[in-house]
Amino acid sequence: DAAGGATGDLSGRHVVVTAGGTREPLDPVRYLGNRSSGKQGYAVAAEAARRGARVSLVAANVALDTPPGCDLVPVETALELERAVTDLVDGGGVDAVVMAAAVADFRPARYAEAKIKKTHGDGDDSAPTIELVRNPDILAGLVAARGGATSPYLVGFAAETGDGTGDVLSLARAKLARKGCDLLVANEVGVGRTFGQDSTTAHLLRPGTEEIRTVGPGSKTLVAQAIWDHVAPSLR
Ligand code: CTP
Ligand code: CA
Repeated sequence: DAAGGATGDLSGRHVVVTAGGTREPLDPVRYLGNRSSGKQGYAVAAEAARRGARVSLVAANVALDTPPGCDLVPVETALELERAVTDLVDGGGVDAVVMAAAVADFRPARYAEAKIKKTHGDGDDSAPTIELVRNPDILAGLVAARGGATSPYLVGFAAETGDGTGDVLSLARAKLARKGCDLLVANEVGVGRTFGQDSTTAHLLRPGTEEIRTVGPGSKTLVAQAIWDHVAPSLR
């Protein structure tokens, strides 16, 4: 087609792609958020549409044009994102879910209906403590709900900085084992690395094999193509 590179190998498929980063509100004007731009998820959605899929794009706080052929489902919080994805999957006929969104692991335990003031009760201007509670792990929920002929193929993303406990690939390997998804796309993040950038390097990890497919450095579209090149033939 005009966009080029379309193979049509996803025609007749329905895929759900999540993108962006959730915002967890503290009060009407403030939230806890993250640096995800949504570019990688949008590239995955655009590529699926080019290959002929029906695409539901669940977008958390993304300031990008909706790619041609994608149905946009805007969400703000992790709980809204969970609801949107489970509604789509429970509706049936979803062939694959790609969880490219950066989902907040925690949210504020309480939402203040009125703006939190610098000085709270009785002239107390001490710094407040924000209590957090866990958000559901949406990908883990999809893995747990799996079974039966209609289960979608599940793709997770891992944004790793590396830390004292291991490098990006060993952290990703452990995350794949923990998550139980069918494919894990790992990339190295940090300010100026991947987040908001147009060029990226990604590693595709699968269960049951040590083999890792490395894509890039290249565009997020290149990574999206590699993901669908792998997923399309694996769909039942
Ligand atoms: N994810 C999710 N629900 C969450 C958190 C993450 O579905 N509450 C998904 C992400 O969309 C991604 C994958 O799980 O596809 C991995 O996210 P990541 O944050 O890297 O993994 P966590 O298990 O949250 O581990 P950690 O943040 O401690 O590295
Ligand atoms: Ca996380």
